Order: sequence, then structure tokens, then C-alpha cells
Amino acid sequence: MSLKNSERGYGLMSRANHWLTAVVFIALTILGMVLEQMGGERGDSFFQLMGLHKGLAIVLMGLVLLRLVWLFVDRARVTQEPVAQWQSLLARVVRLVLWVGLIAMPLSGWLMSNSAGHPVGFFGLFELPAITPESESVHELAEVVHGLLPKLLIVAMLLHLVGALKHHWVDRDGTLSRMIKGTA
Ligand code: HEM
Repeated sequence: MSLKNSERGYGLMSRANHWLTAVVFIALTILGMVLEQMGGERGDSFFQLMGLHKGLAIVLMGLVLLRLVWLFVDRARVTQEPVAQWQSLLARVVRLVLWVGLIAMPLSGWLMSNSAGHPVGFFGLFELPAITPESESVHELAEVVHGLLPKLLIVAMLLHLVGALKHHWVDRDGTLSRMIKGTA
């Protein structure tokens, strides 16, 4: 079981990172929607869920950083199955949107908290340094990004999922197996 990718499939590092990222990202999206619903009533459960949301966002940033570093360490690229040109273009655009989301969502959340004078903490163990002083304009901008991007990301995640399932059940190729087992 290789840590690194090969032409035939994703290595353990890429697979573990992909699936952990997927679980954390989906959990953050659901938690974000719950927090949005609770917006008005800021009781104990709101702050507990917000603490969980911030802690998981730090985990996500760690996974993204690791993935970016790993892209340089592991230069092997997995061979993609040939598909119609529009499908391969759509898949690339969807992955780009997911990458933008992976970076812009935690960053806009961090800016949103700091610009309102709140810290971003990791389950009471440590806090991230502030990346902006308190500022109403920064807060408003970050809030717009953090509020609108998830709508696009939910569409991108659904397209990504449908694409993976289409490869598996319709094309019956090894795309999904390469991300689950590491080989087709
Ligand atoms: C249950 C949901 C998911 C399934 C079934 C799934 C499936 C897959 C598969 C099969 C690939 C390999 C595609 C290929 O080799 O052509 C892939 C790649 C990828 N997926 Fe997912 N995925 C899921 C969720 C997510 C989520 C939530 C994200 C990010 C928010 C994500 C981001 C990516 C990225 C960026 C790649 C490109 C490879 C890489 O950079 O490591 N996926 N996914």
C-alpha cells in the first residue's frame, strides 16, 4: 500500500486526505446551515456549535495545507479515464470551485470572527492569531463571501458526487475505485 500516487491510482496520503476533507467539509456545511437557522437565539447551544464549527474549520485548514504541500512532494498524476470534452471541462471547473471553497470558506470565516472582535479557537486548546483588526467593512465583505459561497459549493459538491457515481455505475470505469482502494 503506497503512500504516494501512481498513474494507476491515488496513494494512501491523497485518499486519506480526500475523504477526511470530504467528511469535515460536509460537516462544516451542515453545521453552518444549522447556525444560520439559530441566528436569532444566541444561547449556550449556539456557542457550543460555533466552537465546534471553528475547531473543525481549523482541522480543514490543516488538511488543505497538508494537501498543498503534498502536491509538491508527490508529483505523480493519476491517469484520468477518457470522457467527452464537455464532461472533462465540467469536472475541472467543479474541482476548481471546490478548491476555491476549501481556501475561501475558512479564510472568510476567520476574517468574519476577527473583524467582529471574536477569536478563532481550537476546542479551548489554542487560538489562531488575529488576521484583521475589528472592522465593519471587512466584516461585511467576509460575511457576504461566507454566506454566498456555500450555495455554489453545494451545487459543486452535488455535481462532483454525481460525476463520481456516473463513472462508477454508468461508465463502469475505475475512477471511484482509484479514490477508494487506490487502484482501478
Ligand atoms: C461523498 C462525496 C465525494 C465523492 C464520492 C468524491 C469522489 C471523488 C473521486 C472519485 C475523485 C477522483 C476523480 C478522478 O480521479 O478523476 C475525487 C477527486 C477530488 N475530490 Fe472528491 N469526492 C467527494 C467529496 C469531495 C468534497 C466534499 C471535496 C472538497 C470540498 C472534494 C474534492 C476533490 C478534489 C479537489 C479532487 C481532485 C483530487 C485531489 O486534489 O486530491 N471531494 N473525488
